Amino acid sequence: MPATSMQDLVALCKRRGFIFQGSEIYGGLQGIYDYGPMGVELKNNLKAAWWRAMVYERDDVEGLDASILTNRLVLRHSGHEATFVDPMVDCRKCKSRWRADQLKDGKCDKCGATDLTEPRPFNLMFKTTVGPVADDESFAYLRPETAQGIFTNFKNVLDATSRKLPFGIAQIGKAFRNEITPRNFIFRVREFEQMELEYFVMPGVDEQAHKDWVARRLAWWQEQGLTSNHLQLFHQPAEDLSHYSKATTDILYHFPHGVEELEGIANRTDFDLGSHSKKPEELGLSAHVLPNADSVTKLTYRDLDSNKDIVPFVIEPSAGVDRGVLAVLCEAYTEEAVGDSTRIVLKLKPHLAPIKAAVIPLARNKPELVDVAQQIKNSLQKLGLGRVLLENTGNIGKAYRRHDEIGTPLCITIDFETVEQSPASASVTVRNRDTMAQERVLVSELASYFQEFYSQT
Ligand code: GAP
Repeated sequence: MPATSMQDLVALCKRRGFIFQGSEIYGGLQGIYDYGPMGVELKNNLKAAWWRAMVYERDDVEGLDASILTNRLVLRHSGHEATFVDPMVDCRKCKSRWRADQLKDGKCDKCGATDLTEPRPFNLMFKTTVGPVADDESFAYLRPETAQGIFTNFKNVLDATSRKLPFGIAQIGKAFRNEITPRNFIFRVREFEQMELEYFVMPGVDEQAHKDWVARRLAWWQEQGLTSNHLQLFHQPAEDLSHYSKATTDILYHFPHGVEELEGIANRTDFDLGSHSKKPEELGLSAHVLPNADSVTKLTYRDLDSNKDIVPFVIEPSAGVDRGVLAVLCEAYTEEAVGDSTRIVLKLKPHLAPIKAAVIPLARNKPELVDVAQQIKNSLQKLGLGRVLLENTGNIGKAYRRHDEIGTPLCITIDFETVEQSPASASVTVRNRDTMAQERVLVSELASYFQEFYSQT
């Protein structure tokens, strides 16, 4: 198990500016969180690592940023209007509301009563109205998964890039689900981000492609610092599969609250492209209320070998950004005995660390130290490796403690020796977060030291 309880982590996240409750000053909004100064950097770094691995380091993937507001017909054809539901029950005694499949022994989670209503389906999609007229037909959905924006743009991307199968379309963005019982901090929330790839292949090679993507995604999470003994694969049984899936393998992580899903890798077959190419009656749906609302585009691919239009199969690795942030925080959180005291340190992989280096003048009220610190900060910042922070609090012990807790891999201290030596021999102290070892580094060599450190991690 990771060396933390959820309470310790939540306290650290608030204290150090990673994650706050949404709308906190008004009592919050259940299942909604805001990312603070450190959280936004960590989250951006995780997303950038995913984009690098899934788009830049491959030659067969394009990116996309589709809209959140979605025409309701997209989600009608995708099957979400009919089937994206969870079973909801009410406790007759205390009137609380629960997801039936998450209750233990059929008992209310609040008062323990067993007098519950029969489960009834609750659709998780958020609705809103678009435009000035709010009636039953003018509503749209906030997307419950980023995937549909990829399917509806399949032809646009294909026409714009002339891709040949196999190829993928990657997207990172917000998704919204009106979860009945959001819980466990940022694990199950109502507004979250997904990192999704839809990888289109010829029918027939889908099962092998599915296996390959499971292995690749598991390796990627390990590169983000999750150890293999905290990760495990789960092949969903047929009765649990989503309506679009022929096979789904989940990557589970040992969170402090239990072993739960971090990412799902599904074989979505030709379900979605097929559904968006059909008329409502072909899907067993009633005709659309709006006239001429049928999709006019066949989401097919011209196979030059057979000279036929085919509907590709799709493999979908779908990861939650927020669950990823939670997992890397759980994994990194460490309490270590140092002499008589305990230090809390976030042993994040350096590429994920919110602050790449803190530049700390030894004394606050010495302009000569602060000037040099500012120059060093500016020059390291220009290297483009991420945020470098000038930490001008004048208390070196507190600064080290803070940067251990936010996971800053390197602290660079500017002292009197730095400014008294000739420019050629001026040096600084560099402290390593994990080993706490300190070494003197020439200011003239600091940029290459910094670059070298980050190229190895
Ligand atoms: N397009 C497929 C899809 O959306 P999913 O298993 O429902 O599949 C994929 O979601 C990932 O999105 C999950 O593995 C999880 O990491 C994340 N996710 C889903 N619901 C979430 C929620 N309410 N809060 C946080 N993350 C969530």
